Amino acid sequence: MNISRRQFIGLMASMGAASCAKMDLESVKAIVTNDDTFTFAAIGDIHVLDARSTGIVNKAVGMINATEAAQFTLMLGDLATDGRLPEFRLAKNSLDRLARPYFTIPGNHDVDMTLANPLDNFTKSFDWENWDEDRGGWVFLGLDSCNGTASDVTIRPDQVEWLTAQLGKIGGDRPIALLSHHPLNPNTKQYRVKNAEDVLALFKNHNLKLVASGHYHGNQQEERDGILFTTTACCSTTRPNFDGTTSKGYRLFHVDKETITTEYVEVMA
Ligand SMILES: [Fe+2]
Ligand SMILES: [Fe+2]
Repeated sequence: MNISRRQFIGLMASMGAASCAKMDLESVKAIVTNDDTFTFAAIGDIHVLDARSTGIVNKAVGMINATEAAQFTLMLGDLATDGRLPEFRLAKNSLDRLARPYFTIPGNHDVDMTLANPLDNFTKSFDWENWDEDRGGWVFLGLDSCNGTASDVTIRPDQVEWLTAQLGKIGGDRPIALLSHHPLNPNTKQYRVKNAEDVLALFKNHNLKLVASGHYHGNQQEERDGILFTTTACCSTTRPNFDGTTSKGYRLFHVDKETITTEYVEVMA
């Protein structure tokens, strides 16, 4: 299991187990079985602004907790509205209620351009850094797709470098899931990462199975060359969906060996 110390600490904190300082890596690993059949949840774009806006997040958290098969949750960015600490605090309070681990990537609303390091508030709140997680034989790679607050972005050279380095350590047959706030979906209605094809080409000799994204608030799902690409409706009452739909919610992904399927779960605000 390739897990950084910072991510491990973040994992413990996210599990509400920060006080269990003695908890070792094996204990964390035991949370997820090594079965090659597992389920996880993914929430995009909660856009927390104030206490009231955490209502829908708390509902989603309750629903995921009640879904015992969901072994962990991926937060696909835009946890905040303007990348402010109070927003992150509220978001974290809600997400820390998740009974099982969760992992975050930043979105363009998690950036505060008034700071020397625009991701400082996000990083402080979620102890974030690029991460890779080994789950049930799959590798999950959490990418930072942000270019400041821009909606149309190019994956930065440092992130391309990080991805390249990770892939150098991953065998060609291991199933990989890539998490990127900005979508790489070939036919997304909006906001496709400008160098998406270059990024996807990095996986040429690898077994990329899933690219899960947020940012485009709307359910999109397509497959190309055996890779499933998704975006998801936002799980927010402070923002609309961009495709005119009104349903808010999250996704469940079901993994059966190397096969992955997904379903959308509506959350009534
Ligand atoms: Fe968003
Ligand atoms: Fe976004």
